[in-house]
Amino acid sequence: MGFPDHLRGDIEAYLEGLRFSDETDTDGLEEAMRYSLLAGGKRIRPVLALATAHAVGMPTEDVLPLAGALELIHTYSLIHDDLPAMDDDSLRRGRPTCHVVYGEGIAILAGDALYAEAMRLVLTQQRGEPSRVLACVAELATASGVRGMVGGQYIDVQGLIEKGDAELRRLHELKTGRLIRAAIECPILLADETTRSTTLADFRAFASELGVLFQIVDDILDVTGTDVALGKPQGSDERHGKVTYVSRFGLDGARAMAEESHRNARAALDRAAPDSAHELIQITDFIATRTS
Ligand code: IPE
Ligand code: IPE
Ligand code: MG
Ligand code: MG
Ligand code: MG
Repeated sequence: MGFPDHLRGDIEAYLEGLRFSDETDTDGLEEAMRYSLLAGGKRIRPVLALATAHAVGMPTEDVLPLAGALELIHTYSLIHDDLPAMDDDSLRRGRPTCHVVYGEGIAILAGDALYAEAMRLVLTQQRGEPSRVLACVAELATASGVRGMVGGQYIDVQGLIEKGDAELRRLHELKTGRLIRAAIECPILLADETTRSTTLADFRAFASELGVLFQIVDDILDVTGTDVALGKPQGSDERHGKVTYVSRFGLDGARAMAEESHRNARAALDRAAPDSAHELIQITDFIATRTS
C-alpha cells in the first residue's frame, strides 16, 4: 500500500511558498489563511492531480498551480464547514479550528480569500493554452459551486436526504466527490487533444467512484476513529444527527459498501490508465484503508 509521499512533499513545498499580498494591513488575514492551509492535511486532492498528470505523461511542474488551487479550495471548505453555523467543530488537522483561534469573522474571510486566491493562482500561474486553462478554471468553479461542493454542503446541512439511498450517494458525489473528480479531471483538461479525447470519460468514471469511496470512509472514521488519529472531533456526524452511510446502513453495511466502491474504483482505473497508474493505484488503496 502506502501513499506517494514524494508528491505530498512537492505540494507542501509549493503551498509553503505561496504569499497572497505584500500589504501589511492584511497580514492578519494571511496568517489565518496560512494557519489552516499549512496545518498538515493529507493533501489528497493535489496529490491526485499530480498523479493523474503523471499517468498521462505530464510532469509535476506543469500542474503545480492547479494542484495548489485544489488544496486552497479544500481548505476554505473545511474552515467554513467547521464554523458554529455549520458543523461547529473546534479541532481540525490536529489544531484548534480557524474560528476558534482568529474569531468567526476572520475565519469566514480566510475561507473567502482562499477561494478567490485559488482562482487567481490558476488564472495567473497555470501554464497551458488559454482555452485549456479556462476549461480547467471552469471545472474548478463547477466542482466547488452549486453543482458541486457547496450544493452538497447545502443538502447536508438542510438534512435533505431522508428519501433514499440514491440521494445519499448523490450527497457524497456533490459534497466531497465533485472536488475530488476535479482533481483528476483538471490535469486531463490541460493535456493534449489526443489524451483528452481518449481518456477523459474513463478518468471521470474512476474519479466519481473514488470521490464516493472517500466520503463513505470519512463517515466510517467519524464513528471508528479517534480525535488524535483524525485530527478532528470523532462523532461529529452523530452529534449533529447527520444522515451518513453508517447511520443508514450500519458500520458493517458501510464497510461492505466501501469495499464495493474500492473494487469499482480500481476497475475503472484499469480502464482509464491500464499501464501508467502506479501512483493512482497507491492513492486509491490508501483512500480505502486510511485511518485518518
Ligand atoms: C475532510 O477531508 C473533509 C471531507 C471532504 C470529508 P480530508 O480528509 O481530505 O481532510 P484533510 O485535508 O486531510 O485535513
Ligand atoms: C464536509 O464533510 C465536506 C466538505 C465539503 C468540507 P464533513 O463535515 O463530513 O467533513 P469533516 O468530517 O468535518 O472533515
Ligand atoms: Mg459537514
Ligand atoms: Mg464537518
Ligand atoms: Mg465527516
